[in-house]
Amino acid sequence: MLRYTAMKRAVVFSSKLGSTRKIAERIAEATGADLFDLADAMPDVSGYDWIHLGTGIYAGGPSKRVREFVDANREKMGRTSLFVACMFDDERGDKQLEKVAKEFGVADAAYFNKSKKQVYVPGSKLEEYVSRLVE
Ligand SMILES: Cc1cc2nc3c(=O)[nH]c(=O)nc-3n(C[C@H](O)[C@H](O)[C@H](O)COP(=O)(O)O)c2cc1C
Repeated sequence: MLRYTAMKRAVVFSSKLGSTRKIAERIAEATGADLFDLADAMPDVSGYDWIHLGTGIYAGGPSKRVREFVDANREKMGRTSLFVACMFDDERGDKQLEKVAKEFGVADAAYFNKSKKQVYVPGSKLEEYVSRLVE
């Protein structure tokens, strides 16, 4: 007999200005993931099948808290997808995303510019991304 088990997901993020938070909340809402703001505490992510990890970009790099989370949890991070809020929306955005994804050892990564304005907008990069996560 085949058994289907619901994928247990965690959204783990840090956001200074609110954009990463907006994306995090949208992903959690769409996927039923547990939502963890690193400003509150360092979550225990053992037992999660899929981590959606989010950070803003500040001076070309991720938030310190997200970096601390990755350093502390590398072994517990199985399947991980990175989402990034940033101001660049061109090759500079591609480059800085690539750099952060490489630092964190995450292959699946996407960035969003003006993400607050994309929430619930059909066809936006963010909504397209979210719909791919739930398929
Ligand atoms: C101090 C500071 C430095 C920033 N440096 C960059 C940068 O190097 N590249 C970039 O694309 N965006 C940069 N930004 C824009 C932020 O990445 C953008 O506002 C993003 O939405 C922040 O995420 P948050 O709203 O979750 O804090 C910077 C913003 C601040 C405040």
